[in-house]
Amino acid sequence: MGEIVLDAVRKTYGKTLAVEDLTYTVGEGQFVTLLGPSGCGKSTTLNMIAGLEDISGGSITIDGRRVDELPPDKRDLAFVFQDYALYPHMTVYNNMAFGLKMRKTPKDQIEARVRDAARRLSIEPFLDRKPKELSGGQRQRVALGRAIARRPSVFLFDEPLSNLDALLRDQTRTELKQLHRDLGATSVYVTHDQEEALTLSDRIAVMSKGHLEQYGSPEEIYHHPATEFVASFVGKPRMNLWTATRVADGYQVPGTELVVPVPRGAELPQTVRLGLRPDEIGIAPDDAGIARVRLVEPIGNATDVILDLGPERLTARLTGFGHFTVGQPVSIDVSAARLHLFDTATGLRLPV
Ligand SMILES: Nc1ncnc2c1ncn2[C@@H]1O[C@H](COP(=O)(O)OP(=O)(O)O)[C@@H](O)[C@H]1O
Ligand SMILES: [Mg+2]
Repeated sequence: MGEIVLDAVRKTYGKTLAVEDLTYTVGEGQFVTLLGPSGCGKSTTLNMIAGLEDISGGSITIDGRRVDELPPDKRDLAFVFQDYALYPHMTVYNNMAFGLKMRKTPKDQIEARVRDAARRLSIEPFLDRKPKELSGGQRQRVALGRAIARRPSVFLFDEPLSNLDALLRDQTRTELKQLHRDLGATSVYVTHDQEEALTLSDRIAVMSKGHLEQYGSPEEIYHHPATEFVASFVGKPRMNLWTATRVADGYQVPGTELVVPVPRGAELPQTVRLGLRPDEIGIAPDDAGIARVRLVEPIGNATDVILDLGPERLTARLTGFGHFTVGQPVSIDVSAARLHLFDTATGLRLPV
């Protein structure tokens, strides 16, 4: 249960086009993330699935049933917000039980479901407390528990981890993934954090300015970004991107000696946007090298080395500490298999 189909979904606020032509399917039981920068239409999309916003065009179906005309409580879904949205005057237990009471669920069933959700989230000791007697992380668990107790066929999350500190965010992210494995319910999850999207998702819908840039598995999104936007938004450190021109055996970044080889006979334009992931570049000390070390940023299990390449910058990520020193000349090693090319006008990926 819980297959969601969006077909040409559109949303306008007055003259503002917030979301246009969204067409994709969230498969039954999948965890799908809507990823993109602030203002790109993620929450609007989620709110339209939830029924908190009307749609301006297209259709939304869940399990083959058209839902876009139905009120939220007829759609069999549960929503977890960034700001928890708990009732301050109710105990944790009653917050979690409230939705079930409204649906006239028998009392013993309510008790069983609330206790089961509380156990899964380790919040049993807090059931008699009020939200104000809890930390932010505990409140977010209560909000999650309330959603779980409902046993919906679809969970919707809008940046649920954004208000938590870094350590708690990582822990809760792992728990969310485990919960999804245990419960198996379809989940649609909004975030602007590419790492969250990569770690949690079966599929990622990357959005920009109200439209869908790419819909695919984390691996497809990372290794085969469909557009320059996706390439630069997903991946940390960011992909190196330059405008490059065709030379005899590859593409050259103007003003530098960097020539990236392309397969012979490939029909490619004179000018392209050329992308190289920092973790797919090799560097080695070399007195005749074409780049110089500008900065070294160790982060423990990896080191980012920022290089001066003529007037350009290039970031390479190495494993471990990779002992480079500032000012040192280095050579650069890139393989044709690891290169990303995009059309300069449309931003679309070019097959190499
Ligand atoms: N109630 C509203 N009235 C007018 N414009 C809105 C409203 N809600 C959102 N928008 C606009 O729609 C666009 C998408 O917003 P939103 O879906 O909240 O983005 P995101 O969640 O990706 O940050 C933005 O340009 C925003 O200003
Ligand atoms: Mg939002």
